[in-house]
Amino acid sequence: MRIDKLLANIGFGSRKDVKKMLKTGVVKADGEIIKDPKTHVNPEEQNVTVNGEKIEYKEFVYLLMNKPAGYLSATEDEFQETVLDLLEMEDAVYQPFPVGRLDKDTEGLLLLTNDGQLSHQLLSPKKHVPKTYFAVILGEVTEEDSKAFSKGVELDDGYVTKPAKLEILSSGNQSTIHITITEGKYHQVKRMFEAVGKKVTYLKRISMGPIILDEEELKIGEYRELTEDEIEALRQAQPIDL
Ligand code: URA
Repeated sequence: MRIDKLLANIGFGSRKDVKKMLKTGVVKADGEIIKDPKTHVNPEEQNVTVNGEKIEYKEFVYLLMNKPAGYLSATEDEFQETVLDLLEMEDAVYQPFPVGRLDKDTEGLLLLTNDGQLSHQLLSPKKHVPKTYFAVILGEVTEEDSKAFSKGVELDDGYVTKPAKLEILSSGNQSTIHITITEGKYHQVKRMFEAVGKKVTYLKRISMGPIILDEEELKIGEYRELTEDEIEALRQAQPIDL
């Protein structure tokens, strides 16, 4: 890759800025000063440094975030904060995007990556991996609801959902549940409860395929890179029938 493109990609400014920087002789590859912006380097094999500091280049970034309420799952918005506003510059320069969406008021597990292929694989209807949510529901959630969800319920637009697994954790005027779905329709969980006459008052995603949110490790608003094993597990993730 051309040195100017590489340095611009990882946040050293525009190609013009990088060209100026190169002229000052601060960039080296394997100890040799590079001044020509057209020079090709391989950051995985060569030791590329700027002011003596080795640059870390990777093509893809894979992040696991514990999303707070109040942020849009989008890459930009004119007026509202997006989950990208929670990223450090060193991660934002890779231009990751959210893998699917969580509503603004939904919390919990959100993957961000710039690997379009993996994102597509995780979200494509045929390969959709299961996603589990914890929710607080206004109203008494019953075994009837579990049965209805296991068959699929009709949403307000006439769409009948695929079978979903509902586990009742506590039931009363206010109930708590876990629900696992294999689709990603707009406001799906909220609309499924509306279909049985109940209202979701709090929603948090706790797992997506093989990735489970550990809230001890990742406090709300925090994120970390996925490990190699987790990325591989996501690549291997298979759709399941509930
Ligand atoms: N279902 C919803 O209703 N909202 C979300 O954010 C995710 C699933």
